[in-house]
Amino acid sequence: MLDVFALVVIVVHFGVPLLYYFYMKKKWLGRPWNLKFDKNYKPKVTIIIPTYNEAKLIEVKLDNIYAQEYPRDSLEVVIVDSASTDGTLDIVKKWISQHGDINIKIFEEPERRGMVPALNYVLQHCQINGEVVIFTDVDAFWEGDTLKRIVKYFADSSVGAVTAGIAPIATLAIDDPLERSYRNYFTQLRIAESKAHSTPIHNGALIALRTSLLYKIGGLPEYTGNNDSTPASIIAFMGYRAIHADDVVVKELIKEGQVLRKIRRAQHLILHFLKTKQYSKKLGFYSPAKQFQKIWQIEWWLHIINPWLLIVAIALLIVSTLHTSPVAPIILGIGLVLLISSTYRMWILQQLYLVIGAVRNLWTKELVWRK
Ligand code: GDD
Ligand code: MN
Repeated sequence: MLDVFALVVIVVHFGVPLLYYFYMKKKWLGRPWNLKFDKNYKPKVTIIIPTYNEAKLIEVKLDNIYAQEYPRDSLEVVIVDSASTDGTLDIVKKWISQHGDINIKIFEEPERRGMVPALNYVLQHCQINGEVVIFTDVDAFWEGDTLKRIVKYFADSSVGAVTAGIAPIATLAIDDPLERSYRNYFTQLRIAESKAHSTPIHNGALIALRTSLLYKIGGLPEYTGNNDSTPASIIAFMGYRAIHADDVVVKELIKEGQVLRKIRRAQHLILHFLKTKQYSKKLGFYSPAKQFQKIWQIEWWLHIINPWLLIVAIALLIVSTLHTSPVAPIILGIGLVLLISSTYRMWILQQLYLVIGAVRNLWTKELVWRK
């Protein structure tokens, strides 16, 4: 009896995401965007880079932004630093003194309060001239045409947020194939969701927001610790498109300590799915498209409920094994053997991160994290 129940739970746990994935892939992935692009649309853009102890990378990052193929007079860059102790700002100041032909400003916070409060500090105290605001992490590196590609989506007035795919790199030159396969599955889903209407999950390596909308929602909400998925989803709840571009990938440098980082990001995503819909309603901007409402519901299930089904199934199978069921250990064994498949392994790990993240949220929300 326990075995049958465990099997049902397993079928639901794997069946819902698989069905969703194949459905979205078949129905939406290959479709056109249904957006009006304009390659000549070159609005003013403000790039905001939060920094905390980034002495090792900040110079490469600034060079990377400097190399963007975009009209210089339509670009402004703002660095917001929260009392770095490793000389990050000295490097920035030196770089600025050597590059007089780019509009770049520094904002200094007297103490560290976290990435999102630092970004809000800029939104409140700095005159933002860009029609589009882009947040980007110091450890994210763009191709020369990235900005151009991202901005063209905003030519369509229904677009409120645009994010890019991520190619993780272990050093500034070498790829990490495992991490990439994990992204591929999710990347396809994000793009399919975006073509259907919007995706609720965005990447902080590059998140572009329509400035007027960002101010309309009162800046970045501070309850999730992220600056990407949450503002983008509120904008989607307003009825605008919040999309994952299918023609832009940025490189993200992966350092050690990945497990803790993934748990923290899971924590932020859980807070996002628990609170963002309510928050949008409270703001009085809740008029989502039907498609996005459905996407939100399924992703909510996949992040909040589904990971626990795996735990329930494993617990049932263990109890059943202890009660000398002959079937339960076989199912457990199959589950273990499948771990040789990297996609399956990544899936299981992601479920564990979400479960651990949910529990960890009970005592710390990791709104300010170790650097
Ligand atoms: N000013 C400031 N103050 N910047 C900060 C602070 C802070 O307290 N903490 C982190 N940062 C900066 C980092 O210097 C980096 O440029 C960026 O914020 C992202 O921080 P990382 O330490 O690189 O963390 P990550 O790669 O895991 O961050 C990602 O996760 C968040 C959600 O968990 C990013 O993609 C974020 O954009 C995302 O919202
Ligand atoms: Mn990072």
